[in-house]
Amino acid sequence: MAEGRQKSETKTDDGRDSNREEETSKDTSPKTPVKERGHMLYSFLTGQYMPIPEKDWLGRCRKVTEFEKLNRVGEGTYGIVYRARDMKTNEIVALKMMRMEREKDGIPISGLREINILLNLHHENIVTSTEVVVGKSLDSIFLVMSYCEQDLASLLDNMPNPFTEAQVKCIMIQVLKGLKFLHEHYIVHRDLKVSNLLMTDKGCVKIADFGLARKYGVPLKPMTPRVVTLWYRAPELLLGAKSQTTAIDMWAAGCILGELLAHKPLLPGRTEIHQIELIVEMFGTPTENIWPGFSKLPALEHFSLKKQPYNNLRHTFTWLSEGGIRLLNFLFMFDPKKRATAADCLDSSYFKEQPYPCQAEMMPSFPQHRNKRKSTGEPEQERSRNKSSGSALDFGGTYNAQKKKRSL
Ligand SMILES: Nc1ncnc2c1ncn2[C@@H]1O[C@H](COP(=O)(O)OP(=O)(O)O)[C@@H](O)[C@H]1O
Ligand SMILES: [Mg+2]
Repeated sequence: MAEGRQKSETKTDDGRDSNREEETSKDTSPKTPVKERGHMLYSFLTGQYMPIPEKDWLGRCRKVTEFEKLNRVGEGTYGIVYRARDMKTNEIVALKMMRMEREKDGIPISGLREINILLNLHHENIVTSTEVVVGKSLDSIFLVMSYCEQDLASLLDNMPNPFTEAQVKCIMIQVLKGLKFLHEHYIVHRDLKVSNLLMTDKGCVKIADFGLARKYGVPLKPMTPRVVTLWYRAPELLLGAKSQTTAIDMWAAGCILGELLAHKPLLPGRTEIHQIELIVEMFGTPTENIWPGFSKLPALEHFSLKKQPYNNLRHTFTWLSEGGIRLLNFLFMFDPKKRATAADCLDSSYFKEQPYPCQAEMMPSFPQHRNKRKSTGEPEQERSRNKSSGSALDFGGTYNAQKKKRSL
């Protein structure tokens, strides 16, 4: 595994590209009406070549060698993410290396979807992605994003005191605003969970990781049901429903709210069957009455659900206000058609009652666990400054350990 990573690093560190400028610049005569020559364009008016302003260059990506890699901050299913410095602007960015290993014919579809969706989405609560840069060859491609100091998974695992209820409300309102924007643009995220929620040191929460995200249309086309990390997976997915709606993101949002309030994952199933059992234990067994069409879902041909008539949310959150319980129950409606939308949630009385949501700028700032050396706690930045090269591939920080715990 380490060898594999080292290998891809060698490729990208080297960073030389087949020099298209050189190839095109050999041919200088204007044989055809418009002739591109490096970044020059032939002018009909003057009969001269003129330079194309850099902002108008098409089909050209910067090279990853224009970035100084500082340290690795995360690794998931679809890519490795580095903290890096853009040497042109001096800005600290996140570089997500798109996974290409198993691909013979270009960029994997998940990577293309992520690039396409992220470059076209602009919202305060969605991670900002500005460009794609290339490594040595076309099989190493990086997505450049603005750097967020924290992800909620490693933060939850490392913070000494859990978030207060006012802070939880502040986080959730931002997640819901991001989700509302996504859903208004016909995008289902399909992998909402705490490790895909980032936070800046100004308290701004951003939805990240669009590797599984899909644009959907009407009528809904079937999509693969094995999406969304198990603990956050909606019952319709677990029971094999063919169509997926934005409601699957809303179930996941309910799990995130529950996790932030309970200070531990709400439904930490070990297997798909166990996940369904935990859901039934918490919310009772669904019926045709509350979820029309439920008994015809594919998985129910093979097994039947245990009878459990009670909703145990109140027993889990004894201290929570009626408004809070109502919001959770709305997010955990079995019938996806009845489940709360992001807009419904933002209207919830829970966010208008005491304790009032804290302002994002009043959120505390936290040490950057992901940039520390595991053994010494020395900030990674200090360490990489001492090295001749900024590349620091051998440092997984604390994140990978957390990831093992959380991802299923
Ligand atoms: N823009 C960013 N700023 C800071 N850290 C990031 C950024 N994007 C991703 N990360 C870190 O990298 C991890 C993996 O990135 P993610 O996009 O979720 O990839 P994967 O699809 O592999 O899960 C995240 O959980 C987070 O810790
Ligand atoms: Mg992820």
